[in-house]
Amino acid sequence: MPKLPPLSLYIHIPWCIQKCPYCDFNSHTRKAEIPQDDYIQHLLNDLSQDQQLIGDRQVLTLFIGGGTPSLFSATAIYQLLKGIKDRINLSPKAEITMEANPGTVETSRFQQYQQAGITRISIGIQSFDDQKLQQLGRIHDAKQAKYAAAICSKLNLASFNLDLMHGLPEQTLSHALADLRQAIALAPPHLSWYQLTIEPNTLFGSKPPKLPDEDILWEIYQEGDELLRSAGYQQYEISAYAKPGYQCQHNLNYWRFGDYLAIGCGAHSKITLTDRRIIRMMKTRHPKGYMAGRYLDQQHWVSKEERPFEFFMNRFRLLEPTPRKAFSDLTNLNEDSIRPALDQAISQGYIVETSTDWQITNKGKLFLNSLLELFL
Ligand SMILES: C[S@@+](CC[C@H](N)C(=O)[O-])C[C@H]1O[C@@H](n2cnc3c(N)ncnc32)[C@H](O)[C@@H]1O
Ligand code: SF4
Repeated sequence: MPKLPPLSLYIHIPWCIQKCPYCDFNSHTRKAEIPQDDYIQHLLNDLSQDQQLIGDRQVLTLFIGGGTPSLFSATAIYQLLKGIKDRINLSPKAEITMEANPGTVETSRFQQYQQAGITRISIGIQSFDDQKLQQLGRIHDAKQAKYAAAICSKLNLASFNLDLMHGLPEQTLSHALADLRQAIALAPPHLSWYQLTIEPNTLFGSKPPKLPDEDILWEIYQEGDELLRSAGYQQYEISAYAKPGYQCQHNLNYWRFGDYLAIGCGAHSKITLTDRRIIRMMKTRHPKGYMAGRYLDQQHWVSKEERPFEFFMNRFRLLEPTPRKAFSDLTNLNEDSIRPALDQAISQGYIVETSTDWQITNKGKLFLNSLLELFL
């Protein structure tokens, strides 16, 4: 029987100073002092309850996301990591990422986060243009963003990432490229470069800003991609670029249909049990309910029929080939069960099959939804 999939742990911190108008992540405006110690105790209780699902399997990556995790003190993060290590088998070489916003208070804590055990910091820069930052409802400015990145690069962390968005309201090609050049000049080993999407349940969703037209968006994408490549970054997912050897191991495991246990408000888990059943769980979204001790909100056993779509959904976002063996190992299904869909995807020119791999083509990337529908 194949080994169980590689395992990650995700931890969600649900508070922000204010809600950004484009954001549909599970984040809540901080109204009073954040109950950091209580919340950490709940995270650890949540983990203790789920621990039986993973037994002593080794956890290879850990990601503290939000929300704004950097609103928590370094002492709180230390307590959290200590509590986690007491409860699970965390690899001594684990990549331990924490998302941080570039405010002054947060930046002053970066070194202490590293001392607490964080090996990788991901900074939410979004843009280096003060006017754009204001339009995005951000509370930091370009100077703070550059300072935060500079601090990270001095710390000798295993890696750090800058999050940048493009296709911003009324953004021109030259403005978008100027943002990228500034990011590249700060030399992050990893750069996430997202096109702004307007999400329905956000302020931008109800009052959409004027976005650049399709032609400009395409030019931004093409020239930006070229700029990143010539600076030594390799694209490995639609929005993720890294210097060789610096891909985010946590996100890679998620996109490759690995397993992840998730604790905290609204966090999603996907775990393969030793009997090869796959369970998905979602935790209670609102801090009030979660901190009343009602951690689990929903759970769902992933049926055999659902597995092919779920496997390919994220897998085809990656640029690397998909090993055919990974399909049967991770879904516990025989490749024959998807042969008709595969043959159709090949004949439509969406994927190419070799004796070992499947590779998505440019046409497949362009028609990703049609490709995925074949596996429904
Ligand atoms: C979990 S979020 C936020 C992390 C951190 N709180 C921050 O705002 O900097 C991770 C990243 O997703 C990106 N993002 C969030 N909403 C987006 C949207 N509507 N369109 C494109 N990218 C988005 C941003 O670059 C953000 O930094
Ligand atoms: S984008 Fe980041 S800071 Fe803004 S509301 Fe979302 S999680 Fe919070």
